[in-house]
Amino acid sequence: MSCHSNYFIVLLLFVFLNLISAEARAPFACDPKNGATRGLRFCRANLPIHVRVQDLVGRLNLQEKVKLLVNNAVGVPRLGIQGYEWWSEALHGVSNTGPGTKFQGAFPAATSFPQVITTAASFNSSLWEAIGQVVSDEARAMYNGGAGGLTYWSPNVNIFRDPRWGRGQETPGEDPSLASKYATSYVRGLQGNFNKNNRLKVAACCKHFTAYDLDNWNGVDRFHFNALVSKQDLEDTYNVPFKACVQEGKVASVMCSYNQVNGKPTCADPDLLRNTIRGQWHLNGYIVSDCDSVGVLFDNQHYTKTPEEAAADTIKAGLDLDCGPFLAQHTEAAIRRGLLTEADVNQALTNTFTVQMRLGMFDGEPSAQPFGNLGPRDVCTPAHQDLALQAAREGIVLLQNRPGSLPLSTARHRNIAVIGPNADATVTMIGNYAGIARYSKTIHQKGCTGVACTSNQQFGAAIAAASHADATVLVMGLDQSIEAEARDRTSVLLPGRQQELISKVAQASRGPTILVLMCGGPVDVTFAKNDPKISAILWVGYPGQAGGTAIADVIFGTTNPGGKLPMTWYPQNYVAKIPMTDLAMRADPRRGYPGRTYRFYKGPVVFPFGFGLSYTRFTQSMAQAPTKVMVPLTNHYTNTNMSTLTNNAVKVLHTNCDNTSPLHLHIDVKNMGEVDGPHTVLLFSTPPSGAHSSEKQLIGFKKVHVLAGSQQRVRMKMHVCKHLSRADEYGIRRIPMGEHTLHIGDDIKHQLSLQVDLGK
Ligand SMILES: *[C@@H]1O[C@H](CO)[C@@H](O)[C@H](O)[C@H]1NC(C)=O
Ligand SMILES: *[C@@H]1O[C@H](CO)[C@@H](O)[C@H](O)[C@H]1NC(C)=O
Repeated sequence: MSCHSNYFIVLLLFVFLNLISAEARAPFACDPKNGATRGLRFCRANLPIHVRVQDLVGRLNLQEKVKLLVNNAVGVPRLGIQGYEWWSEALHGVSNTGPGTKFQGAFPAATSFPQVITTAASFNSSLWEAIGQVVSDEARAMYNGGAGGLTYWSPNVNIFRDPRWGRGQETPGEDPSLASKYATSYVRGLQGNFNKNNRLKVAACCKHFTAYDLDNWNGVDRFHFNALVSKQDLEDTYNVPFKACVQEGKVASVMCSYNQVNGKPTCADPDLLRNTIRGQWHLNGYIVSDCDSVGVLFDNQHYTKTPEEAAADTIKAGLDLDCGPFLAQHTEAAIRRGLLTEADVNQALTNTFTVQMRLGMFDGEPSAQPFGNLGPRDVCTPAHQDLALQAAREGIVLLQNRPGSLPLSTARHRNIAVIGPNADATVTMIGNYAGIARYSKTIHQKGCTGVACTSNQQFGAAIAAASHADATVLVMGLDQSIEAEARDRTSVLLPGRQQELISKVAQASRGPTILVLMCGGPVDVTFAKNDPKISAILWVGYPGQAGGTAIADVIFGTTNPGGKLPMTWYPQNYVAKIPMTDLAMRADPRRGYPGRTYRFYKGPVVFPFGFGLSYTRFTQSMAQAPTKVMVPLTNHYTNTNMSTLTNNAVKVLHTNCDNTSPLHLHIDVKNMGEVDGPHTVLLFSTPPSGAHSSEKQLIGFKKVHVLAGSQQRVRMKMHVCKHLSRADEYGIRRIPMGEHTLHIGDDIKHQLSLQVDLGK
């Protein structure tokens, strides 16, 4: 559901706002009207949170405690605490997927932003934060009105490792730096900027930790999959966005996944949860299981002999909350059998209560708290809908544009044939093709009944429409019946007879043919790239409630497209030779393994990572950048000798990196064309060749709007330890010394020399 389809209902409701806000949610706990509980110590908002949490834990008995270890937490009436549903979702807008949020009454819908892969394609981190702010405004409004929770299990920041993954669309793509930046920006938007006083607007959750990126492929499903991952790939690929999310994003929660990693279910692995997330990264928040994954590791994976062992193993590993009933059912027995202590349970509850207190849930009346004034009038506001439109526009990627094709002109292209099963797909998450009708007269032919496109019955009508129109827009691609949670693809070709329809329609078109691809994962459209009758190709992902308008704005040039691909588009023969179950990132020529993502796969692609055209032309030049940097060692290693260098690389741990100031780069971007437009500077680095180096790696990006004929200076910062280090085969980060190369597009190659500062 989106605001769009319910706009009039929302308008009507506006009239009754005062009535509705009178029905606000009763306080979750510490109701000032409840004389029996308001004096309790944990209710005293002026005490430090850890004191209140300790007081609360101390008042609960074991039976009460175990019922609080699950998403559907049971209330404790004698302490004035209501039940709470922890599970809400807000991947690209408040969603009713989780039971904690319901579209009903005063809240029939929420703003629906583009699917995450599309928003990622904007490469605009301010936009990601702005979307998070809007989503959390709507979430708070719904919470105040009793329709939503405050704990959202979003974003999904797993690396989009294989193009067939059905949930790749939910992620920000294949690159660890991009995913990290997305994670920290969206989380900051959701949780609010008042982290300084340790408060939360809503609690976000980075999921699914870790190496989870296979749902159901070739008889292998996520409930049974054991991901074999090297320490190196874990350190420099799979864990990167999670680490950033915890350390920089200060996320309030991490979710462990269904799959095993190297033979252990992630939710029962103390090394991953207790040692890594909490110990090394210092999570200030709670760890939650994916839904039923504790049950899954017992029932499906047979990881433990008894359910009590499963309960004990997960809690001892660092799990604080179970999505699913398992821990409420088996934890008490686990304690009775001595597999677990009540202190372990107290620790878990301390983590969840702390988040609830940071959210203000123990501070009495919601209306008396920050955000207490948000209500129905703050959901689906015109400003929020504008942001959904902006996101859709910024996420559209122009993949091909033969000279003189796009944009179309309203003067010359008065009649447009709009063809394809996705052309009026509200469910595929586009408003509808009415967008184009704002510019020209349209005639619509489906061509195929659905995206599976099994029959050519409707081809004739589509071809006829194209042959009479001034221009043809084909809206093709995939939908959730082809790629989704629990549904991976086996091929990256367009389904069924889509390719045939596209070629036939293009052949018959009187005017230019524009191919619009609506899909989350990439498709191999080599045939279309090579077809001279196909004038232009756009990738729009799943563009959300304002998708139709955004697509039309790009086609007619009122929006100059600036999106870039957040993932590699591989040819079909790549996926044919690489099993989805192989998680190795790096190419291995000895076994004919091609490697994954632009970082390690060097073979032919349909479109590369970072690719995207514009209606104008930009040049970039390096205005200022360091050429030589000394890397200081910690005291222990200075004044020693060069033995600290292995393969001419120094361990990050042995350097004084925290105390070094960032390096500053200035890049000039010039718009050489006739129209204004956005441009994203993508900064890559390549280390000197040597044992511990990997290939080209994105280290930062920045988007600017540049007026036609003018120039903008882009300022970027980079850190030697973070951006120029590489993981070795033991997962240890080292900084290679010597000549690193910084690349920006084809224009800039800048040498940066690193030397160890031995302090002599
Ligand atoms: C990026 O997003 C922000 C926030 O919505 C917006 O103000 C800005 O114009 C966008 N930047 C570009 C270059 O489009
Ligand atoms: C250099 O340091 C290593 C270990 O710190 C030591 O074993 C070695 O003898 C030192 N070599 C010289 C020449 O000082």
